[in-house]
Amino acid sequence: MENNREQWSSKASFILAAAGSAVGLGNIWKFPYIAGENGGAAFLFIYLICIIVIGLPILNIEILLGRTTKKNPVGAFKAITNNPFWKYVGALGVLASFTILSFYSVVGGWSLAYTFEAFVGTFDSFTVKNWSPEYGMPNPESAARFFDIQTKNPFWILGYHTLFLSIVVFILLSGVRSGLEKASKFLMPILLFILLILVIQGLTLPDANKGVSFLFQPDWSKISGQTFLLALGHAFFTLSLGMGAMMTYGSYLSDKDDVVNASYLVAFLDTVIAIFAGVAIFTVVFSSGYDPTAGPGLVFHVLPPLLSNLVGGYYFAFLFFLLLSIAAITSGISILEVSVAFLVDERKISRKKAVLFMAGLVYLAAIPCALSFNVLSDYTFNFQDKALTFFDIADYLASNLLLPFGGFFLAIFAGYVWGIDEVIRNLLIGESNSIYFGNGVVKSKGFKPAFSFTVKYICPVLIFLVFLYSIGWI
Ligand code: PHE
Repeated sequence: MENNREQWSSKASFILAAAGSAVGLGNIWKFPYIAGENGGAAFLFIYLICIIVIGLPILNIEILLGRTTKKNPVGAFKAITNNPFWKYVGALGVLASFTILSFYSVVGGWSLAYTFEAFVGTFDSFTVKNWSPEYGMPNPESAARFFDIQTKNPFWILGYHTLFLSIVVFILLSGVRSGLEKASKFLMPILLFILLILVIQGLTLPDANKGVSFLFQPDWSKISGQTFLLALGHAFFTLSLGMGAMMTYGSYLSDKDDVVNASYLVAFLDTVIAIFAGVAIFTVVFSSGYDPTAGPGLVFHVLPPLLSNLVGGYYFAFLFFLLLSIAAITSGISILEVSVAFLVDERKISRKKAVLFMAGLVYLAAIPCALSFNVLSDYTFNFQDKALTFFDIADYLASNLLLPFGGFFLAIFAGYVWGIDEVIRNLLIGESNSIYFGNGVVKSKGFKPAFSFTVKYICPVLIFLVFLYSIGWI
């Protein structure tokens, strides 16, 4: 089914791009605050189970479906089955990509803004220099106030959202190899390097062990049904699953490249980076005696003053927000690419027109999310005793409903429509350089029954139960 579709120049490029998609605000902004609010290590444990049991098989299937059909999510289902139902499942993915990008672009904008603020030294004013001659007193309250004042300004928030989306558009306009691939190859190593610096500096802080044990010593009493819902939703979000992003990236793979090995590597990198981000953040938070349950504002309220109080803090704060911006950009491009590939394949529109058209739609869709912090802050909808703004709804809808829904249908599709035998036959196509992590695993005796049982029963049932919980039925 090879056609003249653009392809990654190598498997390594694909892995970097897919890891670029997976590693994003989910790992650095979201993971630390949901782990912080849900018991740290206890959350991490359940999240890891979700990644291994549900995330990995679905990741394999998504990439495989893309590689086999060389199509966007709508076209991919159509290429395998005539049943029109599945094309709507693909379309749900395109809808999810819109929903996610509409709030993602707003937070991506904040990250850019904070990189700029760190650069011009704004965070210095959050520290009470005179309190202690040595360290000063970190003051997240003034940082929270700063965040509030900025986000209350519609021009600030819309301006940075525009900047973020423009960067995404600029990269996408250059195509797969010179856009997506080049950006990931350039940005991902920088991201890893910055993260390592931040982890090392975190571990050298006084009381760093408190932050580390928060992340690794589970307090089981903190686990509830909500923890499962959040952990599952986050597993989908962080691996970019359930809306066809990995499928679309997989569609630019050649049949020579094996899928299993790539999936392991992407999931591994994503998980390690989330844990590293957790270590970098919680060591700083705990060493300053702050509460890790600050919510979505954790990295924006708490980190600027805490980081800039450290020796060399100006640089650490700048590096941290640069890291966040890079992670957001390499994921943002993969989110928009889903709907771009859809238009290019299905409507035969030029790439340039598709990018501009879809970005224009996302731009409009993001306006209510951006204005949720100011002009539209009073427009809230009550759901399970919480008043949700447009921003909260987009986030909740995407992570806890649309993505797990997409994953549910993908498991059903692979298990019952495409068929496990076909899936396995395709998984075996492509050279593997590892007997442990590549095709060797697929060839091993126990693989088929285990994979089949997981895809046909465990994934759909678990996702369905969590779904029933999320709508309040159990
Ligand atoms: N995985 C990205 C993150 O962790 C978000 C994302 C979701 C990207 C869905 C693509 C598709 O931030």
